[in-house]
Amino acid sequence: MSNLPKRYSKIAITLHWLIATMVIIALFIGGRMLAGINNSDPEKVTALLGHMIWGLVVGALMLARIVVRFTVKRPAPVSTGNTILNHIGGLVHTLLYLFVIAMVASGIGISILAGLPEIVFQGIGELPTNFNDLPPRAAHGLIAKILMGLILLHIAAALFHQFKLKDRLLSRMGIGKAID
Ligand code: HEM
Repeated sequence: MSNLPKRYSKIAITLHWLIATMVIIALFIGGRMLAGINNSDPEKVTALLGHMIWGLVVGALMLARIVVRFTVKRPAPVSTGNTILNHIGGLVHTLLYLFVIAMVASGIGISILAGLPEIVFQGIGELPTNFNDLPPRAAHGLIAKILMGLILLHIAAALFHQFKLKDRLLSRMGIGKAID
């Protein structure tokens, strides 16, 4: 008999849903609004301020999540009944961690190269015409697209478990009654 819990710890569940919500909002607002505002627009600095603080909070929560991941007991991995799908599931989880961290790291990269901490937080200096010449800017845009794909895969897999395999997977993440 395994003495592993049937669901994730309260702290892991809270961090999971908080980070998921914050990342989806940052992807949506970053791509749909922030990137569309011209750097000469006076509103851009405020938009960047909000996005950067939001992104840094995601980074801090993600670090907490990693600590919890390795220190608090969690349920045994679920099986789909197919070894290859099980491996893909594990891989997607690892990539989700890596790409959220890469998103934050590349954002910090743009910020440092463009001198944004001074401009945005202290009001010293002016924004460059755009960020297009900065390598981390291209990475930030590409990682955002890959991250969206990973999130869609992750949601599709969770729904497959919940509704096709009917194994009440979501209860492990705090939604619905736990499996007996
Ligand atoms: C998980 C965290 C983050 C997410 C999901 C996110 C998402 C995005 C997205 C979707 C874009 C637009 C990409 C495009 O359309 O090509 C963007 C742009 C940007 N982000 Fe982030 N971001 C995050 C963290 C950060 C952090 C921590 C910083 C800086 C400290 C940052 C700074 C920027 C900057 C400077 C831009 C460029 C805006 C422009 O081109 O006008 N981001 N972000």
